[in-house]
Amino acid sequence: MKTSSFTVAIVGATGAVGQELLRLLRERNFPLGTLRLFASARSAGRSVEFGGKTLTVEEARPGVFGDIDVAFFAAGGPVTRALAPDAVKAGCLVIDKSSALRMDPTVPLVIPEINPQELRRHQGIIANPNCSTAVTLMGLWPLHQAFGLKRYFVSTYQSVSGTGAEAVRELEGQIQSHAKGVPLTRKVYPYQIAFNVLPQVDTFGANGYTGEETKMMLESRKIMGLPNLRVSATCVRVPVVRAHSAAVTAEFERPVSVEAARAAVAAFSGAQLVDEPAQMKYPTPLDFAEKVKCGVGRIRVDTALENGLSFWVTGDNLWKGAALNALQNAELMIREGLLRPKAVAVMT
Ligand SMILES: NC(=O)c1ccc[n+]([C@@H]2O[C@H](COP(=O)([O-])OP(=O)(O)OC[C@H]3O[C@@H](n4cnc5c(N)ncnc54)[C@H](OP(=O)(O)O)[C@@H]3O)[C@@H](O)[C@H]2O)c1
Repeated sequence: MKTSSFTVAIVGATGAVGQELLRLLRERNFPLGTLRLFASARSAGRSVEFGGKTLTVEEARPGVFGDIDVAFFAAGGPVTRALAPDAVKAGCLVIDKSSALRMDPTVPLVIPEINPQELRRHQGIIANPNCSTAVTLMGLWPLHQAFGLKRYFVSTYQSVSGTGAEAVRELEGQIQSHAKGVPLTRKVYPYQIAFNVLPQVDTFGANGYTGEETKMMLESRKIMGLPNLRVSATCVRVPVVRAHSAAVTAEFERPVSVEAARAAVAAFSGAQLVDEPAQMKYPTPLDFAEKVKCGVGRIRVDTALENGLSFWVTGDNLWKGAALNALQNAELMIREGLLRPKAVAVMT
């Protein structure tokens, strides 16, 4: 069988999301011809093992995208803003993990299980949602389809890998220091994260909500195509290494039932129903780290709202919340003929 292969770049290849992209490209058999890895000047020259080969990290700078078919950007908003226009000009599709362009009306913001049709209107850049939004919507979308969403309230329980590789080192370092009985140090978070929870993810806006909380509202509206959706989020960082969770309470247009809600979630390709209260079965971050689907459970009729449901959802922030969703978008674009190699290389 002959397959087209793609020249792929990862910008931010040394980071938490970049490393997962590397792994998923191989595990999901992405039709890869050449892979180029980019990061900051600090990492240029570093060696990375990939599929039995040693690749050298290059500095990301303008002018490097000429031969590249698709570039996954996972290096933060400023890098996207500085380099994505150059990549697009070079004819490279940019699949961006940062928040820089998510709300730009010309840029599709896509979760392939929810709004794949949006991929068709891209102008060179596809944005991917914030990790908490992605995980939350994997539970909320099938319920919206079943009952018609009116508004929702959410409290998140976000892992430290959502902040990046340095935050994981900070949590692990604090736990080790605690075990050794030596003073704990911190650099990433404003307070100790080990054995603590911090009701702050991102910086505070004038209305008292953090940037992450506002992103959850705006991105939910854009992805679900509900421009007037009312969302109230409280985003909390917890001392979990990987996988975000969210406790969601949602109000719907139509009458709800637990049975119909469970059936809707079970039938949705992005979710796995784990909801057997009598057996104490519900999704946890440890069970849903490194999983393609997000776990949904604790579904119950809400006692405070008309036509309300409360539920719990857990999913891997580095996968569905980041690298996996980006890759799924690229895979779908290839299947739909929306992404083709510039020079058609052939692998046998
Ligand atoms: N972590 C998550 O769960 C998650 C989820 C959704 C979205 N995101 C988004 O994904 C992006 C990456 O997040 P992360 O968690 O992987 O962060 P991270 O672990 O801190 O990694 C950041 C990466 O960006 C690179 N970088 C930094 N400055 C750069 C520059 N000036 N030029 C080129 N590369 C540069 C770093 O390279 P060096 O090693 O050389 O510094 C590193 O490879 C961010 O926009 C983040 O908001 C993350």
